Amino acid sequence: MQSPLLTEVRVSSIDTTRPTSARIYDYMLGGTQNFEADRAVADRLNSVAPFRRMALLNREFLVKAVRVMVQSGVTQFLDIGSGIPTAGSVHETARALDPAARVVYVDNDPTAVEHSRQLLAGADGIAVVEADLTTPASVLDHPETNAVIDFDQPVGLLFLGVVQYLPESLEPATLINRYLTALAPGSQLALTHFTADNFETEMAAAVEFFASTAAPMFPRDRAAVTALFGDLELVDPGVVFTARWRPEPDGVGADDPDRSGHYAGIGRKV
Ligand SMILES: C[S@@+](CC[C@H](N)C(=O)[O-])C[C@H]1O[C@@H](n2cnc3c(N)ncnc32)[C@H](O)[C@@H]1O
Repeated sequence: MQSPLLTEVRVSSIDTTRPTSARIYDYMLGGTQNFEADRAVADRLNSVAPFRRMALLNREFLVKAVRVMVQSGVTQFLDIGSGIPTAGSVHETARALDPAARVVYVDNDPTAVEHSRQLLAGADGIAVVEADLTTPASVLDHPETNAVIDFDQPVGLLFLGVVQYLPESLEPATLINRYLTALAPGSQLALTHFTADNFETEMAAAVEFFASTAAPMFPRDRAAVTALFGDLELVDPGVVFTARWRPEPDGVGADDPDRSGHYAGIGRKV
């Protein structure tokens, strides 16, 4: 069921004929910000690996991570590689616990940014920044980031389902550390990352699929994902499969938690 707002978004400047990873992901999540071209690619992806399940597990973790952070006093968020903030978004989740929570959404996909801006037009305490995470200054020094985030206070830094698009040559751990260096003590990093651990066949098919696209991806094992947290203090239960991170009885992955396709973790800057 589409709201009138979403119908208006569809007749705007957005190119609906070219699939984008943000809209493909939105379709996986059951969102409304996607079009026929996106759905066709998503259906092909789902035929090579259970991407819908992975996306739902990733979104479950997002909701749990944001709740944990707000409950520990973090009320401002920097969401890097945010995609389109539809159902279960960072701001909805955070504001359900603290209506004054603030969020900066960052993505390098102009269509994801356009969709996000239209969805969030006029919302106080929320900004959408178009920037590439590989140039941290373009995010951290952006005027809209600084209008929303108080860097003297703890920040919830989210890198969910995005670091897998960075090859080792871009030194993802160094990049993440560059963001963490700018944040106050008490800040927390939540990160999820594709993995082939217990998921070799499916992930190999997915890697092959993405290799021919504009967004090739690089799954990492548990040790490599854990290394992305640097010297942060890992929050219980550490870096584990998404379905194993503080599981809830009716969670998406309860039937087969060790085949999540993603690792997840939260680390705290002391
Ligand atoms: C799989 S989606 C994840 C969306 C959201 N973080 C979540 O977990 O629900 C990955 C997003 O990362 C964005 N992205 C990929 N590489 C990026 C980069 N170098 N800088 C900023 N965003 C990037 C894509 O455009 C896409 O919207």
